[in-house]
Amino acid sequence: MNFADSEVVNSILIEDGMQLAENPETADVVLVNTCSIRENAETKVWNRLKELRKIKKSNKELTVGVLGCMAERIKDRILEQEHLVDIVVGPDAYRDIPRLLEEVDDGRKAVNVLLSLEETYADITPVRTVGNGVSAFVSIMRGCDNMCSFCVVPFTRGRERSRPMESILREIRQLSEEGIKEITLLGQNVNSYKDGENSFAKLMLACSQVNPEIRFRFSSPHPKDFPIELLHIIAEQPNLCNYIHIPAQAGSDSMLERMRRPYTREQYLELIDQMRAIIPGVSFSTDIIAGFCHETEEEHQQTLSLMKEVGYDLAYMFAYSERERTLAHRKFEDDVPEEVKKRRLSEIITQQMNIQGERNKSEIGERHLVLVEGTSKKSEEQMSGRTDTNKICVFDRRDFEPGDYVEVEITDCTSATLLAKPIKKSSISEFFGVAVEA
Ligand code: 5AD
Ligand code: SF4
Repeated sequence: MNFADSEVVNSILIEDGMQLAENPETADVVLVNTCSIRENAETKVWNRLKELRKIKKSNKELTVGVLGCMAERIKDRILEQEHLVDIVVGPDAYRDIPRLLEEVDDGRKAVNVLLSLEETYADITPVRTVGNGVSAFVSIMRGCDNMCSFCVVPFTRGRERSRPMESILREIRQLSEEGIKEITLLGQNVNSYKDGENSFAKLMLACSQVNPEIRFRFSSPHPKDFPIELLHIIAEQPNLCNYIHIPAQAGSDSMLERMRRPYTREQYLELIDQMRAIIPGVSFSTDIIAGFCHETEEEHQQTLSLMKEVGYDLAYMFAYSERERTLAHRKFEDDVPEEVKKRRLSEIITQQMNIQGERNKSEIGERHLVLVEGTSKKSEEQMSGRTDTNKICVFDRRDFEPGDYVEVEITDCTSATLLAKPIKKSSISEFFGVAVEA
């Protein structure tokens, strides 16, 4: 989400006559886009600001700004610290950056952390600078109304609002013309997407029809109110990936209730069954929090057992980090000792690595369609890309280029990577066409 936001900011600043600098040392303005989701995300930002202070010492003209989720939370603290930060901009105020920079030029500190009920940056075409030229993110909605008790996002990013469908489709058509092959639709809570009569399922269907050779993913949906209609659409459209990120957070009813996640373990598992029944071969990833307030050993075991029962292909696993303003901060005590949190998290990670290893092994001999992203990190002789099911796959380079679809056969694996033998260049329509006939 922050990468996508930074690309919107690029566009606003370039429109205002600025240019991207090669590095902070040669820049006139450095903007740090920040995340507040966990303590360690914020720690990273403070460290980055300290590094920038060194550059600021030798270049008195340098303007340093803090953008995004940390802005509101820490504006007072940041502005009190002389010479550290000049401008603070919340996630809904990016259009105001040029004006704020002018204020700084006049020698003042400048702040805008107002949240909006409408801002979606719909008319701004992001300037993509960090991508691989093959994949892109497209923001479809902003904010979140869910109020999970552990989560600061509703406070930092404000209320839910959807970007008009026509503006999303326009951006996708443009990306298609630029040769982008994989698009991930982004929002804090994508199943709440709504533009008049257009639901998230309708949006996905419309996206899939822009170009049958662009594959689509989305992140993140909520297990409550998951649009079942979308599962049928994914099953029918070859370019909607057979991969769903579906955050569980925990595996026991008592913990889900404390987290204000309005589903039970049984309902979550039923949803997974339904997904598997409608989309054969679908793969899943999830988000899990270890050591949330009052977590018992039994609740922890239930999280482990849920993860085993589902068999996720990938999981993002975190130790609970208390955030000010959240319901948990106001009502519960962060009472699981640090070493217990760490131990539980490491048990969760170890089990997940074993599950991934087993699941990857079971793919040996299978064929996949991989979208080539670039040269493998480990060897110049190999290319790396992702399967439709979002697994990283590495294979011999031959004459493949980033952006090619390649049919491969899986020959070996680790818990994180599939190793494969390339068969031939292919396409979505050819590969999935053949798969259906077989
Ligand atoms: N502590 C730890 N993890 C958190 N997440 C959100 N808030 C917290 C927190 N306070 C995790 C959730 C969410 C993911 C984006 O970050 O698992 O799905
Ligand atoms: Fe946070 Fe819950 Fe909203 Fe996700 S759904 S952003 S975890 S409040």
